[in-house]
Amino acid sequence: MNILITGATSGIGKQLALDYAAAGHHVVACGRNEQALTALQQQFPDVIAGQQLDITDAATTVQNLRGYTDVDLVILVAGVCEYVDMNEFNADLFARVFEVNVVGTMRCVEGLLPNLKRGSKLVIVGSTARLLPFAKAEAYGGSKAAIHYITRSLQIDLEERGIKVLSVSPGFVETPMTEQNDFEMPMQVSVEFAAEFIRNGIEKNRLDITFPRTFGWFLKLASRLPQSWQLALSRRFKNAG
Ligand SMILES: NC(=O)c1ccc[n+]([C@@H]2O[C@H](COP(=O)([O-])OP(=O)(O)OC[C@H]3O[C@@H](n4cnc5c(N)ncnc54)[C@H](OP(=O)(O)O)[C@@H]3O)[C@@H](O)[C@H]2O)c1
Repeated sequence: MNILITGATSGIGKQLALDYAAAGHHVVACGRNEQALTALQQQFPDVIAGQQLDITDAATTVQNLRGYTDVDLVILVAGVCEYVDMNEFNADLFARVFEVNVVGTMRCVEGLLPNLKRGSKLVIVGSTARLLPFAKAEAYGGSKAAIHYITRSLQIDLEERGIKVLSVSPGFVETPMTEQNDFEMPMQVSVEFAAEFIRNGIEKNRLDITFPRTFGWFLKLASRLPQSWQLALSRRFKNAG
């Protein structure tokens, strides 16, 4: 398969790139970090190609991605997380987070969509944060709720073109992103587990790839409770931190 992965320079995206390359697939690894891209290419010179990409740069993102005309699988992983400080509330933080997680992700779709073939797959990484309001996660959780909605709409709209759109919602995964968290992260999984779960889900065409399973079921159940119960649960998570 020819696979294009954004956010391939770190964490989940990097592990996916390495695992797919180890299985012999051709991978275009995208990200801003040139050194990390070079290291990936050096590890698998025959099958990994690096593409430097800042998805907040509209023109270059679309232009660069238009050049990929034979992709079987796209996995849009690139994302950022910033927590809101109620004492220094600043809407610019929302702009930064949404610019990468939502607008940047859609820029990648804009660049790739014209050349996506019937039978190809488009996989978009969100988060289980979309399922329950978490403290300080107004921007991050909001962006992931938005991207999940967008992904589900794309599932309908790209059906006719024969493109399968899959949504990924990870729980806590050990990556540089979660290293910054100073709160308890229940049921955190390794990046290797995350990449394997995602690859299995993609192979089986699962529309909703949520993991770890128990954490996902718990949050999905919680998201159906009355809002006052959800708030009580969110408070417990906040106080556990
Ligand atoms: N780790 C978790 O617990 C967890 C849980 C739920 C969801 N997720 C989601 O999973 C995805 C990957 O997270 P991770 O934990 O693997 O994070 P990570 O290790 O911090 O990796 C983030 C990746 O996004 C890329 N990126 C960030 N801004 C970019 C930009 N402007 N242009 C292009 N690429 C950019 C980074 O590449 P460069 O710096 O090279 O540009 C990097 O490769 C994110 O969407 C995140 O929200 C993670």
